[in-house]
Amino acid sequence: MKKNLILLLLLALFFKAGAQNISLTKGWKLSIGDNPEWSSPGFDDSGWQAANVSKNWEQQGHPDYDGFGWYRLHVIIPSSIKEKSYLKDSVLISLGSIDDNDEVYLNGTLIGKYGGHKGSDIKRSRYGPRSYKIAANNPALLWDKVNVLAVRVYDTGGDGGMYGTNFNIHMVDIMEGVHFDTGSDFSYGEHNTLGKSIGINTSNNYPYKGTLSFKVTDPETGAVILSKKTDTAHFTTGVPFSWWFTFSAAKKKSYLITYTFKDKKTGVELSETETTPYILTPAVSKIPKINGAAIFGVRPGHPVLYLIPATGKAPLKYKAQGLPAGLKLDAATGIITGTVDQKGSYPIVFTVSNKLGSNTKKFTLAIGDNVGLTPALGWNSWNAWGLSVNDEKVRTSAREMAGRLSVHGWSYINIDDGWEAAKRQDDGKITPNEKFPDMKGLTGYIHSLGLRMGIYSSPGPRTCGGYLGTWQHEDQDAQTYSDWGIDYLKYDWCSYGEIAPRNPNLEEMKKPYLVMRSSLDKVNRDILFSYCQYGMGSVWTWGAEAGGNSWRTTGDITDTWNSMSNIGFNQDKMAPYAGPGHFNDPDMLVVGKVGWGPSLHNTRLTFDEQYTHISLWSLLASPLLIGCDMGHLDRFTLSLLTNDEVLAIDQDALGKSARQYIKKDGYQVWVKELKDGGKAIGLFNTTDSYQTISLPKSDAALKGYTKYRDVWRQQNVTSASGRVAPHGVLLLRVEK
Ligand code: GAL
Repeated sequence: MKKNLILLLLLALFFKAGAQNISLTKGWKLSIGDNPEWSSPGFDDSGWQAANVSKNWEQQGHPDYDGFGWYRLHVIIPSSIKEKSYLKDSVLISLGSIDDNDEVYLNGTLIGKYGGHKGSDIKRSRYGPRSYKIAANNPALLWDKVNVLAVRVYDTGGDGGMYGTNFNIHMVDIMEGVHFDTGSDFSYGEHNTLGKSIGINTSNNYPYKGTLSFKVTDPETGAVILSKKTDTAHFTTGVPFSWWFTFSAAKKKSYLITYTFKDKKTGVELSETETTPYILTPAVSKIPKINGAAIFGVRPGHPVLYLIPATGKAPLKYKAQGLPAGLKLDAATGIITGTVDQKGSYPIVFTVSNKLGSNTKKFTLAIGDNVGLTPALGWNSWNAWGLSVNDEKVRTSAREMAGRLSVHGWSYINIDDGWEAAKRQDDGKITPNEKFPDMKGLTGYIHSLGLRMGIYSSPGPRTCGGYLGTWQHEDQDAQTYSDWGIDYLKYDWCSYGEIAPRNPNLEEMKKPYLVMRSSLDKVNRDILFSYCQYGMGSVWTWGAEAGGNSWRTTGDITDTWNSMSNIGFNQDKMAPYAGPGHFNDPDMLVVGKVGWGPSLHNTRLTFDEQYTHISLWSLLASPLLIGCDMGHLDRFTLSLLTNDEVLAIDQDALGKSARQYIKKDGYQVWVKELKDGGKAIGLFNTTDSYQTISLPKSDAALKGYTKYRDVWRQQNVTSASGRVAPHGVLLLRVEK
């Protein structure tokens, strides 16, 4: 017993020593510009400025600087860290965060890079933490000698440089390089049973042997619901260990799962937690039901493409009474096409039927100057695929949207950055790159499904991803888009920053958007115009008047609670500016499998955070642009995106955004007025623990409202009050 204790103590000391860090926070030098010689260890950087790596370079004498810059550091790496470590095979170099791209050289040898395309030229990626692992016997690493680290940074816009908190070198620790693989989807059985396979793997050459345990806790009570373990968790490089478990959830809510692996020999543990999904959206009925917005706007003489969104057991039969002359309906697909020349508000009655029954709905086709009367519902490639988007991925998304989502009103398939060829044709025409062999064919396919197609560009010479922008080709590009059949354009400021004067005034900010607006007005089809300039110059105050159908109000979203909630809960000041034809855009959705590049991961939002995300965005009357891999829509994500009562809040014809009605320390209440005189109300829990949130019947917001409905569950309730999960929501609709 005593002997064991001593051994444990010795081991503990040993591992503490193993985790020894060499700090890299001090001693950096910085030079703005770019020169291949700066990677060389022999280069004399004594004349460079001293850099503070807790700050971006804007704060160190380079205001507004975008482009290349280099950081260099001379550091001794003592072999004692190797001797004291348990695993002696690799070294991890952590370089804080980099904004946005980098190449890292150790004594002149490139040891890692992040971002970039087109050969060695580093262009766009994303701001974020960087760590590079190299083998301890890599000849570039000089043990016990001075090493020169040189980091080439390329900033695409906004803040730039290498800055953050985590700067160090250390030997890869026993649990570093060990990962839980929790990426597989949960499976759903009867009686709230969930099943899942998890894995544990490593990139370390060490035979891990130990115990894997699994514990389910109720976050409301703290009670441990279930705890299991296996002593046979053995894994090493290339040979992962996987484990299948099931558990029965007592209630429809999220539980917390903790996975812990304990290595027997060293006693070192690694834990990870995740939450469990629960589905609130009721199953779709087999009886026909017509979904989607009650109004759709088209300009006179422009092509109409409208798919009547309806659920119910196939085959469905579609009818439309009161279709204006010039339009025809395909009774088998529900797709309406044609053109209407006369302006006017055309009341139409849709009927959809099958063997089990039928459903009718009043609908207005508004032929006039205003389009995009309700926020766009669609998919955009960026949050899933980043610059790796291609024809096949877009077709997959279209096929899945047509198969599962268009019946709920989803209709846009939008390609973001990364489709453009490197050069224009001799006549100046823009063409797609090799990833999109036939843009017109692709659009034709998307239209044949009753869906619409969107594309992306920048008013500058280059997009944010470094591809060709529209600068000085506005009319020509608008015409090309129209020839291809494009229905939506996202127009991203990016390198227009190099064209506009520094610190542009309002007129200078509006200019590129007004130019493109007039080019789009010259073509013979409706192309929704989505402004993307991150909210500069309070775009919401002038975006509508400058011809935008939507405008981004913020920088880019990412799949964390911090990012999503900071954006979503700060949309009150722009709320009054939303209306039919012009909406605030708090950026695209981060539910499902996202990744901004070729490899994807499940969103890091918890399931309750995802309910909050969709509820809040719907209350805000935001364009809802799905940002995940549509080819792998899991059951939970699908349920989030197909709740017709939730979508109806977003698509309400009044087009108003919710206002922040209550903001307290631990919760918020947002209220949206609806066309029928009702209100949608979101009660949001912004804390990490369960709480009861209530809006009393006597509250001014509820005066005169007698009917309450829980929108996610699609059930009538008796009060505006409930237990709300951490970061979760209770979404209600109230009527008089
Ligand atoms: C960003 C924009 C993103 C995405 C990206 C493409 O500026 O905010 O949504 O479009 O550019 O490079």
